[in-house]
Amino acid sequence: MDAKGGIEVTLQQGAPLEAQVDLFAFTTFGDPSKDSIFKSVDTALGGVLADVAKSESFEGKSGQSIVVHTHGRLPAKRVLVVGAGAKSEFQNPHIRDITATVAQTANRAGAATVGFLLPALGANREPGLVQLASEGIHLGTYKFGRYLTGDEHKRPSTLKTFSLLLESKGKKLSPAQVKALHAALARGAQIAQAVNHARDLINEPAAVITPTALASDAQAIAKRHKGSVSVTVLDAKKCEELGMGMFLAVGKGSDQEPRFIHMTYKPAKKSKKRICFIGKGITFDSGGYSLKPSQAMEDMKVDMSGAAAVISAMDAIASIGSDYEVHAIAACCENLVSGRAYKLGDVLTSMDGTTVEINNTDAEGRLTLGDAITYARTKIQPDEMFDFATLTGACMVALGPYTAGVMSDHESLVRTWMSVAERTGEDMWRLPLNARLREQLKSPIADMRNTGDRFGGAITAGLFLKTFAKDTPWVHIDIAGPASLSTTRPSQPKGGTGFAVSTIVEYATRS
Ligand code: BES
Ligand code: MN
Ligand code: ZN
Repeated sequence: MDAKGGIEVTLQQGAPLEAQVDLFAFTTFGDPSKDSIFKSVDTALGGVLADVAKSESFEGKSGQSIVVHTHGRLPAKRVLVVGAGAKSEFQNPHIRDITATVAQTANRAGAATVGFLLPALGANREPGLVQLASEGIHLGTYKFGRYLTGDEHKRPSTLKTFSLLLESKGKKLSPAQVKALHAALARGAQIAQAVNHARDLINEPAAVITPTALASDAQAIAKRHKGSVSVTVLDAKKCEELGMGMFLAVGKGSDQEPRFIHMTYKPAKKSKKRICFIGKGITFDSGGYSLKPSQAMEDMKVDMSGAAAVISAMDAIASIGSDYEVHAIAACCENLVSGRAYKLGDVLTSMDGTTVEINNTDAEGRLTLGDAITYARTKIQPDEMFDFATLTGACMVALGPYTAGVMSDHESLVRTWMSVAERTGEDMWRLPLNARLREQLKSPIADMRNTGDRFGGAITAGLFLKTFAKDTPWVHIDIAGPASLSTTRPSQPKGGTGFAVSTIVEYATRS
């Protein structure tokens, strides 16, 4: 499968030690001396592997790895051993960081061909493992290098072919099994491509990724999937006619025109249900007149990560195919200051008629999302809807930077969502929509105000949104932390992560 970046990923059955590759890689779960592949490679290399493992204190823990040259003692030029931790704790999504490490090691060593022995965890785990391994290769070789002019950044990746080796132990896979594994491989590449695309949209400066640019991106995706994906883009005038008073107020301070994006995927057969994914699309959040301090504003180009996720996910959903009618919505604008900007004390009228007193112009996401939710609920009338938003710093205070906060009153829907997230390995945790906190949103002059107190800030934001979701089954996912990271892991460089894309795609195509 040739995804962007040009690395071809293939599947191979047979004797792994005979792989004629520049780099042969495998995992050990803990103590390498108990691992049969480790022992046979070590024997072939005359004990060098065990020596290196000993001197480098390699214990097969997750995050550890060693590389040795084979000097012709094996068909492979180099051998890489990657620690995978205790087998009992190993979950399928952990393979992403492992194949990402293998791909990066290959590029560092100038290797063009890699053979990676897929760990044997039982045949029923294989398709899932193959998909996630494929994701890790493409995610681990992602770079946002457009603005780096030095030669070292222009060097293309040396890695060309990455073979996933399946140990067949004499038994050949059935054609049906082979077909399923190839489908998993393709699926992984499509998901990683969508995640990497979301990363690009997030990492691009706000001067490039404007609301209009996001709309063009959605249109380009629809063009690639003519026949299954269509897109409607509403301008300010159209949104005015629909009564989106909250969304339009937030964008008023900017010279960039707002855009309301609505993408639709229709399955070939009669759809089983209608799902709507809504993403926060603030292309830059200065805070407005409740201006953010410089340091807090520095990274606010990422405030459209929710929009990036839902738009990019549609590409993979259409490539993979879904039995459902899937909608993606993003109300996109910039939150700036100017003589036209909305002010504290303003009273806005939302699309559903609710009036809102503004006591903080930096709580702009819930305003744009509130109207997007009303649009979804009334115009699309989905069976279920999800919103993804870099909504509150409070959510990061509660859960840390890696975990998204999930809020919903719909038990069965949120349980299904959480179980899908468990499968994709995206870190999500439920927060309670405690109705008692609604007190904080009372206003003396309007139906409600847009912010509460400091305590429970992620939840009051969720309660604000619930006003607009009403009885439509709905889940709110606050991705303020994981949308963009300053720390790395092999499958995730610094910056935009593309968080939520893989769970959205998995949910829409397999749950
Ligand atoms: N976009 C921010 C939230 C955010 C913070 C996202 C850090 C990513 C990283 C959001 O619009 C915001 O400013 N929220 C305020 C809400 C407050 C005014 C109630 C916040 O969290 O401070
Ligand atoms: Mn804000
Ligand atoms: Zn914001």
